[in-house]
Amino acid sequence: MSAARMFPVPGRHQARVYVVTGGAQGIGRACAERFAAEGARVVIGDIDERGSDVAAAIGGVFLRADMSKPDDVTALAAAAVSSFGRIDIWHNNAFTAVFKPIHEQTLDEFDTITGIGIRGYWMGAKAAVTLMLTQSPLENGRKGVILNTASVQSFVGEKGFSAYQATKGAVLAMTRSLAIDHEPHIRSVAIAPGLIATEAVKTIPGDVMAGVIANIPAARAAAPEEVAALAAFIASDEADYMSGTAVILDGAYLSIG
Ligand SMILES: NC(=O)c1ccc[n+]([C@@H]2O[C@H](COP(=O)([O-])OP(=O)(O)OC[C@H]3O[C@@H](n4cnc5c(N)ncnc54)[C@H](O)[C@@H]3O)[C@@H](O)[C@H]2O)c1
Repeated sequence: MSAARMFPVPGRHQARVYVVTGGAQGIGRACAERFAAEGARVVIGDIDERGSDVAAAIGGVFLRADMSKPDDVTALAAAAVSSFGRIDIWHNNAFTAVFKPIHEQTLDEFDTITGIGIRGYWMGAKAAVTLMLTQSPLENGRKGVILNTASVQSFVGEKGFSAYQATKGAVLAMTRSLAIDHEPHIRSVAIAPGLIATEAVKTIPGDVMAGVIANIPAARAAAPEEVAALAAFIASDEADYMSGTAVILDGAYLSIG
C-alpha cells in the first residue's frame, strides 16, 4: 500500500504567507511545495542552499538561515515581512540529530540538537508571535498559526535518542503553552510524524529498516507529502478549533503496547 494519490486543495491557502524552516529537503520541502500548490506565498529558511532551488520552483523566497542563531531567525521573519507584508503561518521544522546513548553523547552534540530543536523553535515562535500580534487579523479573525514538527518520540521512547527526544517532548509542551497564551488570536499545533521516508531515513540499511517497519502496523514509512497534506489541513480554516495539541501520523505505530 502506498499513498500516491495527493490532491492539493486549490486556493485553500490563497495569499497566506507561510514560513517553513528546514525547507530545503524532506518534510519541510514537501510542505513548502504543498502550501504553494494551495496558493500560499512561501518563505523557506535553511542552512542548505538547495532551498533556493525549491523556493524558485514555487515562486517563493529563500533565506540562508541557521535556526540556532538569533540574528538568522530574526532575519527570516523580516524577509517574510519585506517580501509579503506579514506572516500567517510559521512552521518550526528544521532539525539535526546524532543518535547514540547519553554516555556516548557529547555536551556539544546536545547543545547543537537542542539549539535548533528547542531554542530554535522557541526563537522562531517568538519572532512569529511578536509580529502576528501586531498585524491585522485575517477574514477568519485569526492573526496567525504556529506549526511545530514534533514526533512520535514526543510520546514514547526509543533507544539511543535521549537528546532528540528531549527536543520533541519540549516541542509538545511549548505547543500547548503557546496556545494557552495566544488563543483566540493565534493557534499553535504540533504534527507528530512516525517514520517518514526522507533523505535521512533512506540511508538506514535495509536490514535495520526491515526491523523498524516490522513495528509499524501500516507496514511502511509514509512519504513526506503525506505529512505536508496534514500540515496544510491543520493550518487551514477548516481546522480552526485544533489548537494546543498534536496530530499524530504514524501508521498505528503508537497503538502497539
Ligand atoms: N523523517 C522522519 O521519520 C521524522 C519522524 C518524526 C519527526 N520528524 C521531524 O520532521 C522534521 C523534518 O525532518 P526531515 O526528516 O524532513 O529531515 P531532513 O534532514 O530531511 O531535513 C531537515 C532540514 O533541516 C535543515 N537544517 C538543519 N539544521 C538547520 C539549521 N540549524 N537551521 C536551518 N535549517 C537546518 C536541513 O538542512 C534540512 O534541509 C524534523 O523536525 C524531524 O524531527 C521526522
